[in-house]
Parts: sequence; structure tokens; C-alpha cells
Amino acid sequence: MQLFLDTANVEEIKKASALGVISGVTTNPSLIAREGRDFVQVVREITAIVDGPISAEAVSTRAEDMIPEAQTLAAIHPNIVVKIPMTAEGLKAVRALAARGIKTNVTLVFSANQALLAALAGATYVSPFVGRLDDIGHDGMELVGDIMDIYRNYDFQTRVIAASIRHPLHVIMAARAGAHIATIPYKVLMQMLRHPLTDLGMEKFLADWAALKAKGINVN
Ligand code: E4P
Repeated sequence: MQLFLDTANVEEIKKASALGVISGVTTNPSLIAREGRDFVQVVREITAIVDGPISAEAVSTRAEDMIPEAQTLAAIHPNIVVKIPMTAEGLKAVRALAARGIKTNVTLVFSANQALLAALAGATYVSPFVGRLDDIGHDGMELVGDIMDIYRNYDFQTRVIAASIRHPLHVIMAARAGAHIATIPYKVLMQMLRHPLTDLGMEKFLADWAALKAKGINVN
């Protein structure tokens, strides 16, 4: 399983990237808006930090507009993956972009049927939104498992990104469901890393070592 970082905050991406566990980045218009910076500039900066798939979202709603918009985004850097919404127009665009060799990430996926259609259209990635389904009383992770089963049955090459991840348990559940990727906020990455027993253990080790040194015993 791979981890992508779900943010448009360049400082977060730098810090997460330094850990060596992040393989890509996903952004969306809301994440870009949160930063209040030039979209293309932000995307360029991200491509300079992470050498992996970087999702940038097309905001057009008609296929005939999405296609040139996606081509412009893809021209920014070879690692750009264009996020396309799960709509009828989006599917048409995905098919046309696949034919042109442009990678796509079909976003706002909330059902197994939508994921099936995205794969049939030739999507490179599909992003089921786990947290937003949980929010309305559905089991978001069940959807990830269903998509994995369906894709395996037919050997679809589309990669599944568990998205809208809200907490570390979501990541474990996505891994158990076999998701190829989970895209996670920086906060969740930090929550995954930390454990109070690790902190306590470190404190004790360092204190014992310092006590040994204080006795004049050579520890080097
Ligand atoms: C990822 O591609 C999505 O943009 C993101 O995970 C959505 O997360 P949210 O539901 O927390 O906004």
C-alpha cells in the first residue's frame, strides 16, 4: 500500500516528504482555496518536492472543456494526474484523456457502480470518499472493499485511492481492504506516527542513559 498526502500546503508536504513514506499528493479545489495562492504555482512547487503522482483537479463541467483544461494541467509536469469528477461528462473526458496518454483520478466516487464505470472509461485512479460516506451514516470502507473485489474479478488496472480519510483507523481499514493507496491529511500522518508508549519508552531510555553517564561510566 502507498500513502499520498491530501493537502495543498507546501510546508506540510515538505515535512511529510522528509519522512520518506509519501509516494504522491492529492489536491482539490477546496484544499487549494484554503491556501489562497496561485494554483499553478502551488502545483509546480509540489512537483519539485515529491517525485510521484500529483493530482490537480479540473474544474470544467463539460467534457469539451475538461479535455483542454486537463491537457494544460498535464503539461505542468509529467507527474501530474488530472482529477476528473464522476459525472457523465467526466467519463467522456476520462476516455478521451486516456487515449491521449493523460493520467486521470476520478474523484467524488460514492458507489461501486461509479467505480466500475470509471475503470471501464480507462481511469488511472479512482477515489472513493470514505469519510464523506461515513458522515451520512454509510460504511465508507465497505465501498473500498467492494471496489477492490470488483477490480480484482476483472483485473482492472485502475488503482484505488481511499480518500476522505479522517483518522488513523481509516488507514488501517483501507490497508486491510487492500486499497492500493490511501490519501491522508498531514494531521492523520502525524497521528499514525505517534504513540504515547513510544514517548514514554524514549523518556525512560534517555533518563537511564543519562543516569549511567552521571555515575561517570563511559557510555561512548
Ligand atoms: C482526495 O482526493 C479528496 O480530495 C479528499 O480526500 C477529500 O477529503 P474530505 O472529504 O475530507 O474533504
